[in-house]
Amino acid sequence: MSMFRNEPSQEAAQQERKAANSDLKTRGISDTATLNRGTQTHHGVTRDDWDGWWREAVIYQVYPRSFADANEDGMGDLPGVIEKLDYLAALGVDAIWLSPFYPSPQKDAGYDVSDYCDINPTFGTLEDFDLLVAGAHALGIKIMCDIVPNHTSDQHEWFQAALAAGPGSAERERYIFRYQPEGTPNNWGSIFGGPAWEPVFPHTGNPVDEGWYYLHLFDVTQPDLNWDNPEVPAYFDRVLKFWCDRGVDGFRIDVAHGMVKAPGLPDDEIGPDRYADAGEDGSGAALSEQLSANEHPENSGPASGVPDSEAASPTASDSETATPTAPGALATPPGGSNIAPYFDQPGVHQIFKRWHKLLAGYAGNKCAVAEAWVEPAERFAAYTAPGELHQAFNFAFLAAGWDAPALRAAMTASSQANDRVGAPTTWVLSNHDVVRHATRFAYQADCGFDPAGGIGVDNPQPDTGLGLARARALSLFMLGLPGASYIYQGEELGLPEHTTLPDEARQDPTWYRSNYRARGRDGARVPLPWQPEGPSYGFTITGADCQPWLPQPEYWGEYAASAQEKDQNSTLNLYRQALKVRKTHHLGRVAAGQPGIQWVDQDQKLGERWVLAVQNGDVQVLINMGENLLPTGDLFAALDASGAEEVLVASDQVQPREDLGKYLESHGGGLPPTTAIWIKNPAKPNVEEPQTHE
Ligand code: NOJ
Repeated sequence: MSMFRNEPSQEAAQQERKAANSDLKTRGISDTATLNRGTQTHHGVTRDDWDGWWREAVIYQVYPRSFADANEDGMGDLPGVIEKLDYLAALGVDAIWLSPFYPSPQKDAGYDVSDYCDINPTFGTLEDFDLLVAGAHALGIKIMCDIVPNHTSDQHEWFQAALAAGPGSAERERYIFRYQPEGTPNNWGSIFGGPAWEPVFPHTGNPVDEGWYYLHLFDVTQPDLNWDNPEVPAYFDRVLKFWCDRGVDGFRIDVAHGMVKAPGLPDDEIGPDRYADAGEDGSGAALSEQLSANEHPENSGPASGVPDSEAASPTASDSETATPTAPGALATPPGGSNIAPYFDQPGVHQIFKRWHKLLAGYAGNKCAVAEAWVEPAERFAAYTAPGELHQAFNFAFLAAGWDAPALRAAMTASSQANDRVGAPTTWVLSNHDVVRHATRFAYQADCGFDPAGGIGVDNPQPDTGLGLARARALSLFMLGLPGASYIYQGEELGLPEHTTLPDEARQDPTWYRSNYRARGRDGARVPLPWQPEGPSYGFTITGADCQPWLPQPEYWGEYAASAQEKDQNSTLNLYRQALKVRKTHHLGRVAAGQPGIQWVDQDQKLGERWVLAVQNGDVQVLINMGENLLPTGDLFAALDASGAEEVLVASDQVQPREDLGKYLESHGGGLPPTTAIWIKNPAKPNVEEPQTHE
């Protein structure tokens, strides 16, 4: 393993920096080194974090269980991540977000934490963690940890003390215990299925506990904390400081929208069994039910997209919700709808204000990103208001699916809402909770099957070729957008979901808690293939023959990273090329005085043909999501692309810096369907005025 990359020669580094700075100047952005720290006002918004590194970062999600196994137990670990740091540096990511690695009984794959300030022995030690931070930092990569503040594990010392201490004790006040001699305290159901209330008596055997329940929005082993008790915020202050002091650069906040519950815990509209209508096929069709309260008649979206001016209004931004029939659309967030008394309560913002101050007390622009499944865009952007969190996952974008009007509406609504609070928009297509996008997009809209709830061996199987082509195109489009982009491990390999995982191997509590009606998330969590052959396809990096914690499909080797490195047109090389060009052209940055998204196609002529086109600096980022070729003449007319000369990257072939005319000619005289391209178009500089600090 080489943890520290060779330093580039001084001359090369100087040249790279000079080129980057000159590009910044043409875009009216000051050299980062000269940016002033502290509170500044831009575009009428005053914030203390305008110079945050995370604004334009590409952040790679490592799911430690499935990334790389160094200690031969079939489960990934931190030394495994250290081994692969060079790979991540070569990919060109700016930061790694590590899903939980804390001590945990692993009832929800680590999102059930029993000790927030240590490492689960399966994943390594605190020394390994320190080595990982040092190794990543030496490569210029930041580290973000996953904080799980909505609930602990039932094995956490607080919960064990609460069970032992009995009703009315101070220990029980840290959680949400309620007495109800008949029925349950209210009608809430767990996000994973089944009721959200667990009787206490079977756990203690103490007669005084008869009629007492505790709340668990997720698994029964994940009791919800009581954030109204000052001990809880004080505890998490200590947790955040512990990791900040160890050098982490930021946090991903699990269930950020769920930490505070409505006073009086009123009934919700969903009831105790959210999978009731899921059907026997395990397709999870009724996952859509959860969001039905959010759906509006106009949600199917106009055929030609929503004009920007309309999308700015709260009413129109509601229509950003994707039609559930679009391939890859998520009618229901896995985190649950925000139309519920346990989500998106005003009290959560007090917590984030406190955390903002805590993080701002550290050097290095430490940040926090919210996992908040919240709609519409205005409510979602409240999480990233000045003095609160720094960014939030753009789940409206993820949920839109392969649907150009829905995507355009989601992009416009989210970027306008973020612009108003001065937060960068984030872009994300996959994570460990959703079916991988290469598979979500692999179904036709009219196939009659909704893959969003997980896919099993008896479900319709995906068209993997179609899914991969769509995934490459939409990923390339996403990586060309201004703001922060998130990559879920393996998507850079075009990795599909494991859709024939044997049911007996499933470990996601959703599977059994939904009474085997929703397949759940295991298919997206299968250990990565690093080598085309050999035991576990190189997941266990020593080559030892040990069983990975989830079985890999037989064809996994076809996606191996080592083979893709050698193939110029591989998905891995597409991502590498894209991230390189993104950096050179500063595509992650929102230029001074410009909106977060600048649509090229104001009159939506292209939109009608399911082509999306964004101007980003001197680059035009386009995707043809339609079923027909977009002829060169139409493309040029719509784009005003007279100066366009070069294709910088294209999703159907990775051949950097190709003449645009030649590319179009060799592709049948236009931009082919299911293809994204980045065109250098010097005729359309997007920055007129240099950035000034108001
Ligand atoms: C969201 C996490 O991403 C998911 O994996 C987990 O099951 C729930 N929160 C509960 O922590």
